[in-house]
Amino acid sequence: MDVPYYPINDYEPLIKGLVIGGLGITHVFLAQFAIGGGMLMCYFQWLAQTGRSPVARQFLDGYFKILVLISFVVGALTGVAMWFTTIQVSPRTIGVMVDEFHWVWATEWTFFCLEVVAGYAFYRCGRNLPDRSRMTLLLLYTVGAWFSLFWINGILSWQLTPGQWGEDRSVWSGFFNPSFWPSLIFRTITSLTIASLAACVVINTMTELRRDLRRELINRAAFCLSPMLLMPALGYWYLNVIPPDSRSWVEGGSAAMTMFMGIAVAASLLIGGYALVGLIAQRLYINGATATLLLALAFGATAGGEFVREGVRKPFTVREYLFSNSIRADEVALLREQGSVTADPFPLRNAGIYANEQLRLGAKVYRFQCSICHSMGGVNGLTHLAGTWTTDQKRMNIAKLQNTKPFMPPFAGNAEELEALVQLIEWHAAGMPRTWETTSNATVLAEIRQWLDEAGTESATRREVALIREER
Ligand code: HEC
Repeated sequence: MDVPYYPINDYEPLIKGLVIGGLGITHVFLAQFAIGGGMLMCYFQWLAQTGRSPVARQFLDGYFKILVLISFVVGALTGVAMWFTTIQVSPRTIGVMVDEFHWVWATEWTFFCLEVVAGYAFYRCGRNLPDRSRMTLLLLYTVGAWFSLFWINGILSWQLTPGQWGEDRSVWSGFFNPSFWPSLIFRTITSLTIASLAACVVINTMTELRRDLRRELINRAAFCLSPMLLMPALGYWYLNVIPPDSRSWVEGGSAAMTMFMGIAVAASLLIGGYALVGLIAQRLYINGATATLLLALAFGATAGGEFVREGVRKPFTVREYLFSNSIRADEVALLREQGSVTADPFPLRNAGIYANEQLRLGAKVYRFQCSICHSMGGVNGLTHLAGTWTTDQKRMNIAKLQNTKPFMPPFAGNAEELEALVQLIEWHAAGMPRTWETTSNATVLAEIRQWLDEAGTESATRREVALIREER
């Protein structure tokens, strides 16, 4: 069995997880707006052609459709940027996703093509077409957009809850995994919410319309917020199917996860509450400033939600299969024996700055096993986190990494590598002096080996799950 190596980029003082996270949030928000925008436009076209709301057509031919166009163009661009970034940040995860779901990706892409062609055709020619053709184009656009969500949702939800795939490795067990339906329905409602809030902003700018006509349009758009009523139930369903240890983090186990979950829930409640009471029940007029604020809250909710979805997967990118640092769960034991970077062919950047060979080894180990989640001195910086520990505590806590924090993978190298890593952290903490003594104490190495054996090569997640079940 050969463990594959990929070149790893250094984003110090940022960490790779953040780089991909920031981009991902923008992408998801825009892509969901493009989907919800399609649904909303179908609804308004229907209102217009059935005579229910003659001004709806004015809205449709206004600049809302330009916004939708921009969002699917920028959505597509950030989508490509996601590929560009992930192949640098986590090439092996992407590799597994492509391997396992080859035809699903291809199918998703086909629907995306439909979305682009139909959307652009409506944008260019919609104004001069009869109602039937307008509706056909809008429906094609919406079906294309929604199905691209359908396909990608299977792959993304599989990462956290691979379910039966863990045993049978079947594409469809992985695709229709336990969190597939709750997250698909949840995302569909989110898309519609974002689009109707954006519509409220746009309608406010249509000052050529009388105020009562604008109010009518706003009430129509606000009607599309009503599926938000289902969100609490869907959220509950989702939390119920994700692994118990992941759930325990958003329920207070991890301060950051709980906080982001809180932001997502609070922002959604604010939007939902305002929508139900103000817009739907009392038919209030919502002005541009309020609509923009609600839209910003929706962005906050999306950001919080995406952050949590990515975060609670730790220490895996594919649950129980592939760790965040691209080491497969069943490779840890082998790497403990042969060393994690012995076969790593990629040279260090600035290899000359390290004071000795041991530090260079440590730097490779850090790059391979830790740099996906940690920087040295910046975000989640190791010199800071281990700053108060003695040298021996560093050795032990890193050897038992998965016990130190259950959202870290087990250490996957040999004792010499671990010692080199500890030296690297201390050398950085000391301000990277020009000379640094190499350590090679047999007793110390034996002790590290003992700790590694005690920790074992399993992740802590199974144990956590068992503990949580016992508590119940
Ligand atoms: C999957 C992401 C991930 C990986 C991979 C990872 N860590 Fe961590 N680590 C974290 C997070 C998250 C924390 C918590 C930071 C906090 O408490 O603010 C953490 C905390 C720590 C701490 C402080 C623990 C404590 O009890 O305060 C140390 C030391 C540490 N990591 C070392 C490492 C080393 C060394 C590696 C590589 C061998 C590594 N980590 C790999 C995510 C990771």
